[in-house]
Amino acid sequence: MTATSVIGLQWGDEAKGKIVDLLTAEHDVVVRYLGGNNAGHTVIFDGETYKLSLLPAGILHSHVVSVIATGVVINPKAFLTELAGIVERRGEVPPERLQISDRAHVIFPYHTAEEAAFEKARGGDAIGTTMRGIGTCYRDKAGRTHAIRMGDLTHPDRLRRRLEEVVPQKNRAIASLDDEFTPFSVDEIFEEYCGYADQLRPYVTDTTAFLHRSINEGRRLLFEGAQGCLLDIDHGTFPYVTSSNSSGCGIHSGSGVSERVINRMIGIVKAYTTRVGGGPFPTELDNEIGQHIREVGREYGTVTGRPRRCGWFDAVATGYGARLSGVDCIAVMLVDVLDGLDEIQVCEAYDFNGVRTTDFPSHVEDLAQMKPIYRTLPGWKTDITGIRKRADLPENAMRYVDTISELVGYPVEIISVGPDRAQTILD
Ligand code: IMP
Repeated sequence: MTATSVIGLQWGDEAKGKIVDLLTAEHDVVVRYLGGNNAGHTVIFDGETYKLSLLPAGILHSHVVSVIATGVVINPKAFLTELAGIVERRGEVPPERLQISDRAHVIFPYHTAEEAAFEKARGGDAIGTTMRGIGTCYRDKAGRTHAIRMGDLTHPDRLRRRLEEVVPQKNRAIASLDDEFTPFSVDEIFEEYCGYADQLRPYVTDTTAFLHRSINEGRRLLFEGAQGCLLDIDHGTFPYVTSSNSSGCGIHSGSGVSERVINRMIGIVKAYTTRVGGGPFPTELDNEIGQHIREVGREYGTVTGRPRRCGWFDAVATGYGARLSGVDCIAVMLVDVLDGLDEIQVCEAYDFNGVRTTDFPSHVEDLAQMKPIYRTLPGWKTDITGIRKRADLPENAMRYVDTISELVGYPVEIISVGPDRAQTILD
């Protein structure tokens, strides 16, 4: 049995898409199990760039079944637009190659309207969400009474009943937060979503049963994480997190497959740190070096285009993410982005009111007080994008990667030195 998972160990955007794409060749089923169209993967495939959000990277490979499992929240319009883009560039995607869980929850326009109102009400303390209605959809899932699942969407009678119950309540709730709000109409939403349902129906199925059968039949599964460990709703930098378990903890609940079947868990880290949205970020570089990393690393959101906040590698935060997820090894991405720097710092511990600690705090109020304790390493000042073997890396680049491994506590098995799949050091 082969089952692999790929998990981001920081605040998301660790370039997981490239590793998922590389590993897809040796797997039969690729599973996306959490988040929604808040996530963004950039994959370079056959020399062309694809920006994926809801679709698993497996969609680019014709031998693979792509599964959007139960823990994902689905915006049908966004999904169909993304699928149409793939069909236009790579041909039809038959239902045998793409399955959507009938248990997954559906995002409606009132979810985005509610989120906009909630974020506005928080003012300067806004979470800085992607404004895709992700958190409000998960809120309805947990609350149950307002939830609508894919299996309701594909049955018009159930959808109508649910919308008649939910929409008037949503209208009243949003109006209480926003004076200028125009109420949603049950008829309009019903008509629009019935149109989506007709296109989605062939893909909607019991993905949990399919995954269980796949395991019994010896198919090789690849679990594609979205976001990163520090955005995990339970274990991340709450409340500046996403609304699902984006650490390894979410694989089981999001897919219906026990993590006991996974025999290789790969943690993905960037050679530095980025985050989008609000919340404390101890190693943030609000200066020229941060700006340099942003420009060289093209650190702008795939989904929202927002400039990402950039900073030095934080081994305390990343080590915590790695332990949470129980990784076997790590892949260090975007090492080439640091090529031009004279010196590079790595945060090896925090100073909390004069006490050295390597524990990651539970509360953002404490995280905001942490002062990074840095280890300073010399840069390598060499273009490494053409290097394909560890032995050929400049000594200082290898020293940097080894330091990450030592401080995070796991072996580095993959080093990425550029966006192309060929720019990967695997030996
Ligand atoms: P939400 O997921 O849209 O609710 O946003 C909550 C927080 O998670 C915000 O700080 C977002 O910027 C962040 N976030 C959500 N998805 C991603 C992602 O794919 N990469 C990085 N940050 C993300």
